Amino acid sequence: MKKPALSIIILLISFITANAQNSAISSSIENVEFKVDSVLAKMTLEEKVGQLVQYNGSWDLTGPASELGSKQKENNLKKGLVGSMLNVLSVEATREAQKLIMDNSRMKIPLIFGYDVIHGYKTIFPVPLGETASWDLEAMELSARIAAIESVAEGINWTFSPMIDVSRDARWGRIMEGSGEDPYLTSVVGVAKIKGYQGDDLSDQLTIAATAKHFAGYGFAEAGRDYNTVNLGENELHNSVLPPFKAAAEAGVATFMNSFNEIDGIPSTGNKYLQRDILKEDWDWKGFIVSDWGSIPEMINHGIAKDKKQASQIAINAGSDMDMEGGAYESSLAELVNEGIVDLAVVDDAVKRVLRVKFKLGLFDDPYKYADPAVKKNISYEDHRKTARTIAAKSIVLLKNEKDLLPIKASVKSIAVIGPLANDKDAPIGNWRAQGEANSAVSVVEGIKIAVGKDTKVKYALGATLGISERSFLLPLEINKTDRSGFKEAIELAKNSELVVMVLGEDAFQAGEGRSQAKISLAGLQQELLEEIKKVNNNIVLVLINGRPLEISWASENIPAIVVAWQLGTESGNAIADVLFGKYNPSGKLPVSFPRLVGQEPLYYNQKNTGRPSNDQHVTYSHYTDVKKDALYPFGYGLSYAQFEYGSLSLSGTEMNSEKEIEATITITNAGKVKGREVVQLYLQDIVGSTTRPVKELKGFQLVDLAPGEAKTITFTITPKMLEFYTANKIWEVEAGDFNVFVGGNSRDLKSAEFTFKN
Ligand code: BGC
Repeated sequence: MKKPALSIIILLISFITANAQNSAISSSIENVEFKVDSVLAKMTLEEKVGQLVQYNGSWDLTGPASELGSKQKENNLKKGLVGSMLNVLSVEATREAQKLIMDNSRMKIPLIFGYDVIHGYKTIFPVPLGETASWDLEAMELSARIAAIESVAEGINWTFSPMIDVSRDARWGRIMEGSGEDPYLTSVVGVAKIKGYQGDDLSDQLTIAATAKHFAGYGFAEAGRDYNTVNLGENELHNSVLPPFKAAAEAGVATFMNSFNEIDGIPSTGNKYLQRDILKEDWDWKGFIVSDWGSIPEMINHGIAKDKKQASQIAINAGSDMDMEGGAYESSLAELVNEGIVDLAVVDDAVKRVLRVKFKLGLFDDPYKYADPAVKKNISYEDHRKTARTIAAKSIVLLKNEKDLLPIKASVKSIAVIGPLANDKDAPIGNWRAQGEANSAVSVVEGIKIAVGKDTKVKYALGATLGISERSFLLPLEINKTDRSGFKEAIELAKNSELVVMVLGEDAFQAGEGRSQAKISLAGLQQELLEEIKKVNNNIVLVLINGRPLEISWASENIPAIVVAWQLGTESGNAIADVLFGKYNPSGKLPVSFPRLVGQEPLYYNQKNTGRPSNDQHVTYSHYTDVKKDALYPFGYGLSYAQFEYGSLSLSGTEMNSEKEIEATITITNAGKVKGREVVQLYLQDIVGSTTRPVKELKGFQLVDLAPGEAKTITFTITPKMLEFYTANKIWEVEAGDFNVFVGGNSRDLKSAEFTFKN
């Protein structure tokens, strides 16, 4: 084994001393840059390439495994030819891997350990789509904070989250992992998550590096089929897809991950325009980009590289800094530089980016900082669960509540809880569950039993299994389409109960990566079961456990109360009971449209008008002849047990310019009998633009708490910045002209006013 050069040791000691003496100076940008340059100057080409290599450390694979055996991986770690590992879980395991580097390699550059901590590490929070329905940014920051602490407790210092892919297609399995169809909402949620993970100081032991992913356009996969081709024009790319990423870059996210898809013929991993021109140059972002799992060699399948070597050349030149388990950089990047095909400066830039993040995390000061058993000892998982319950309750969306069936009255004597997901303790944990244990959620039956008074009987019947119990990556997923043996018992129970709570929806693994579906109706026998139960009892509350919008037109017409409970995580059943019994008055709003029929997908409220907006009287307009073209439940929609009434919308003026803002004011009254929270939403429409503009776009929202009978006047300040878009000049700017302002409780039912912007 080669001994570390004395100069390196001196260099590192001087870093540590400098840090101890003056931490304020040590965290300054200049100081980090100086350290990065000093380390880089000492590195060999092979060591530099090593920093750009990421190995998988377990069998928790999300794609084809690398060709290297574990012995060879270990040897490469010892030589310092690896910059990062993912899926190494536990303080002991990360410590061991770090030791291989620290005890054996010449440069002793610590590893950074990544993991998919998407909605919690051990304490599981609602899937991101569900949590976004809370519109509660503080809550979302807090769940990320907790996830960060629990991650550090297991040696992890880098999460591959948040996923900020705008997604408008319910068929796409990964819609569960993002914030839905709106660029603004996705942006602010992304920033809240980044703040939660990273805090104010990345070197704090309890913060971890975040990843803005997947850069870019991944949510626009054709026909909602995961990994599929994306055809995205420049206008849509800039106006709808990139804003959340720009916001993440501005918020100081440490890393980006690129995406599997191509856009207009160029895979993102090989896309220089996206990664270099926009992200690294225009936005001047200094972190590093990790490829998605194997996405560098996947450019061979895409058909733009003939082998790994060419794929490496394309990827590094395009700005992909780290190769996640692709084995491409490690096998060919040094050779490409030696042959003069890739410029050393390009590799140096990538390495500097990786080192920068490592310095910021404080890894050079203490490589074992995130492998500290004391962190776990200090965690109160019980407290985390309490927070998870509150956030889960806030994420629930009430879609329908006829006859005031909800909240369930204390006088109800008997409740039948029916359905394949009623006592399912696993579905609510959802996909991308990190170390959330299988079958560890509070089920709906359990939650209801805890919540009811002693005079109410609660009985459960399965009705029919959903059937997708296969947790592996193997196909096909088995759905029960034939076994009705539980129907009789369920029907009998419904007949003899005062109220039925039907719990239907999706299994944990129906949504998520690779889980695209051409059908989004209730799978298997669930619809049939619902219809049978309805024949014997009209008092049905339908609770949906889901990772995507579902097609529920029949239920919407026939079932008096519907609650969207997503996959709410560890405390699911308790949170659902909190809402069903009125302990928490629902305040969630849909972050994504629920369609009438799957054939409407992709479906989103912020669509364009077209040259032929719908006209019910005539056939040659943009619509469907067999179904209305709008959503069954639109973006931003959600009811409360309170009643919110909106007064008229008034503006502080009708003319605006770059020096002048306008205030939009509206009064909201709670005309109901209970206190409640309303998410008041602000939308704008640029009526005439140099390119076509959406019919409306969310630009702000406020959470307003109102006691019964209380009225509050809410003001939104409309700034010139809010009016900017990526214009025909290919820059972000405001164009003079008329604008509509809309304010209301969802994207469809809105009060409006107009103003003019003059240059
Ligand atoms: C996913 C990423 C994830 C990575 C590592 C990929 O298949 O697309 O989102 O972070 O695997 O698990």
